Amino acid sequence: MNFPIWPEQASTFATEVDNIAYVLIGLTIFFTVAVMLALMFFAIRYRRGAKVDRSNPVHTSHTLELAWSVPPLIIALGVFAWSVVPYASVYNPPKDADEVYVIGKRWMWHLQHADTGIRENNELHIPINRATKLTIISQDVIHGFYVPEFRVKRDAIPGYYNTCWFQPTKVGKYFLFCTEYCGTNHSQMGGWVYVMSAADYAQWEKQKGRKSGSFEAKATTPADEGEALFRQYGCGNCHTATDTARAPSLVGLYGKERTFTDGSKVPADRNYLRKAIIMPENTLLKGYGTVTRMPSYKDLSEDDINQLIAYIQSLGAVTSAPKVATTDTTSAATPSSRGAQPTRNLP
Ligand code: CUA
Repeated sequence: MNFPIWPEQASTFATEVDNIAYVLIGLTIFFTVAVMLALMFFAIRYRRGAKVDRSNPVHTSHTLELAWSVPPLIIALGVFAWSVVPYASVYNPPKDADEVYVIGKRWMWHLQHADTGIRENNELHIPINRATKLTIISQDVIHGFYVPEFRVKRDAIPGYYNTCWFQPTKVGKYFLFCTEYCGTNHSQMGGWVYVMSAADYAQWEKQKGRKSGSFEAKATTPADEGEALFRQYGCGNCHTATDTARAPSLVGLYGKERTFTDGSKVPADRNYLRKAIIMPENTLLKGYGTVTRMPSYKDLSEDDINQLIAYIQSLGAVTSAPKVATTDTTSAATPSSRGAQPTRNLP
């Protein structure tokens, strides 16, 4: 008879998470049973009318109090110390993880592979034994990205990039749930994660992506799409290859420390960049006057914002000033933090 208590263990987190859960459940059962048995024993033995010795009742017993305080404290702290390591690791994706952008919206999951630009709806194809990092955001209300077999769950929150990661250990097809009640079709908001062997995945990627080698590029990278948007919206009219009095350069911006008019500082990470694009009035930098001249791009979709941020990331972190500052679309800046990436033009 097949009666699984737990879902299949299909990621590197699964065993550890399950062990912690087993121990917590075991401890809970043990203490519940112990307390209930003691309760029943005393209720029956000292019930009204029972002939028992009620003289000399105990009012204080330090031994007893220590016995029910210290061991549970040690057990609780032990479980905490044990679980804090895997808990923290869920929040720290390995540096070489493959990134996938996840956008939750009513009522579907939209996913895009950051390296190839391959897009998927309600499906995610990933290779086995490779760390996959998810950068998750919601386009409307709170959704929850949940794959039980991986023991991974993270909320998709409007206006904030959440991350998580996992490394699948078994080839297979796993259901992807939305675990936040997000309206009428919440129950239909699901999909499948396909974990493939390295060879199968390479084949799939080839079919779907620009790595096909054919002239027919099926997917463009997010950075390329971001560059197209950058041109389309004329961002280059103000954001040139070097800082000007009008606007800061985007070259080497990613991760750089930004100083606001009130003196507070923040690194230019994804969440900062998103805010700076859609609410520039709230990210006014020191040295650029008291009113922002940048219009708000709040009508951009989360997907467009992802592409723009990917473009900014692709402009890298520059140590020396770029060579050319011009709006000429053919001139090249000198950014290249990503070695494999071709040098990009700042339009
Ligand atoms: Cu999305 Cu529930």
